[in-house]
Amino acid sequence: MKKLLAMLMAAGLCMAVLAGCGADEASADAGSQASGDRPVLVVGTNAEFPPFEYVGDDGEPDGFDVALIRAVADRMGMDVKMENMEFGSLVSAIGTKLDAAIAGMSITEERLLEVDFSDEYYEAVQFVVVPAGSDIAAPADLEGKTIGVQLGTTGDSIASEINGADVKTYNKALDAVNDLVNGRVDLVIIDKNPAEVFEKQFSGQVEIIDGAQFEFEPEFYAIALPKGSEMIEKVNAALAELKADGTFDALVAEYIQ
Ligand code: ARG
Repeated sequence: MKKLLAMLMAAGLCMAVLAGCGADEASADAGSQASGDRPVLVVGTNAEFPPFEYVGDDGEPDGFDVALIRAVADRMGMDVKMENMEFGSLVSAIGTKLDAAIAGMSITEERLLEVDFSDEYYEAVQFVVVPAGSDIAAPADLEGKTIGVQLGTTGDSIASEINGADVKTYNKALDAVNDLVNGRVDLVIIDKNPAEVFEKQFSGQVEIIDGAQFEFEPEFYAIALPKGSEMIEKVNAALAELKADGTFDALVAEYIQ
């Protein structure tokens, strides 16, 4: 019975995709390339954000978000095709080139004008990455500094609001951290978990500070979908199932902790 329902749902979704409801012809193309007969969800990411997304050894996007969206799609009877692109291009590509995006993307008022978000799946906060031994500790210490951020991120918005800050934007967060190590920027503002990954990667060279110390607000990651997408309920149902049956926690354990 359950299987039949899943098949019917998949068939319905497939028709919706092919009819251009949830997406445009890019999805239809991708759908026709499917190896089995499952429809394909074309999902954008920016694989420069470990542990949520990075380029794996096989050259393909990997990480928590990639595993999560595959699990969500699987519950919906769909396969996934990941598209790796610049973070700043994701939102505008949703509904045209992409059926959805998963990219450690925080729900923001601004993005909500252009896309819908699924239920949140992860709480985050911006962290500050500084050179080892730095005495940056309080909000006022950020003023007038040269700050590295990834272009178009919430870290970019936060940095841009700091008094006298000279904000340097990068397409890749790693390049911002490299410039921190080389002394070209004073600090980097980036989400907690990637900050922790970079702290390990540049062990002894950089330190990280919890953004709560600078009064940065919590942020919530969610899957972005086209405005008005009918898929949202199915995505949320799949997320809820994955949380209830322990799959979600297993992915957290595998990729994040
Ligand atoms: N959470 C931040 C935001 O939504 C940064 C996300 C960056 N993600 C990425 N895959 N590069 O703006």
